Amino acid sequence: MKILVVKDYYDMSRLAAQAVAEVVTGTEKPVLGLATGSTPVGTYKLLVEMCKTGKLSFRNVTTVNLDEYVGLGKRDEQSYVHFMHENFFDRTDIPERNTNLPNGLAKDLDKECARYHDLLGEYRQDLQILGLGSNGHIGFNEPNTSFESTTHVVDLSQSTIRDNARFFPHPSCVPTRAITMGIAEIMNSKKILVLANGANKADAVYQMVYGEIKENCPASVLQRHPECTLIVDETAGARLLNVK
Ligand code: F6R
Repeated sequence: MKILVVKDYYDMSRLAAQAVAEVVTGTEKPVLGLATGSTPVGTYKLLVEMCKTGKLSFRNVTTVNLDEYVGLGKRDEQSYVHFMHENFFDRTDIPERNTNLPNGLAKDLDKECARYHDLLGEYRQDLQILGLGSNGHIGFNEPNTSFESTTHVVDLSQSTIRDNARFFPHPSCVPTRAITMGIAEIMNSKKILVLANGANKADAVYQMVYGEIKENCPASVLQRHPECTLIVDETAGARLLNVK
């Protein structure tokens, strides 16, 4: 794993946007795996700027997102599809038909998982962006999810519900289930870029890089990926800096 510890959130976002831009310009039909949450917001902002100033186009890009809450759709402000439109899709030239997320409103969730799995078979990610849960989750693959998992419905852990409550009017409004890309489908990406900032991620970052590769820390599987880069700010990387 290539590890970059940078000064702050802006530097993390700048390097991440550069990495995305390289894949977009260097690939004929680029497929980007995207994440939501607070971590990649700055990266999306910089990519939007590049697009607005004519430096980068997403016209030929296809996107596949990691996850979506069960029961939320585009009209719900806290849904991930809403987040993606607000932060990225509606501000760039990407055609909406090229964007994909699991459908949290699907009536038959098993069927929806199968559909998304097939879609990922068709659109293998050239680059997958990942944030990191403070409990070591990637996508919504919570601790003790099988490394062989494919797209599935997950019961969110109490710590994830607590962490994500900041986006909702009240903790009781946080959905308890989500559809997530599985760990096997994340690992199938040609390249992976993990981003983390803030002191609350320091332990998870350390476990991901130096911990035993074990399902109790889903992100530890990334040690096995041949092309994985981690970009962290100094606070999230604090425990890495102390390793001799
Ligand atoms: C989001 C996702 C999650 C987040 C993680 C970190 O699509 O899959 O794994 O990346 O929970 O969230 P933030 O960035 O809000 O700290």
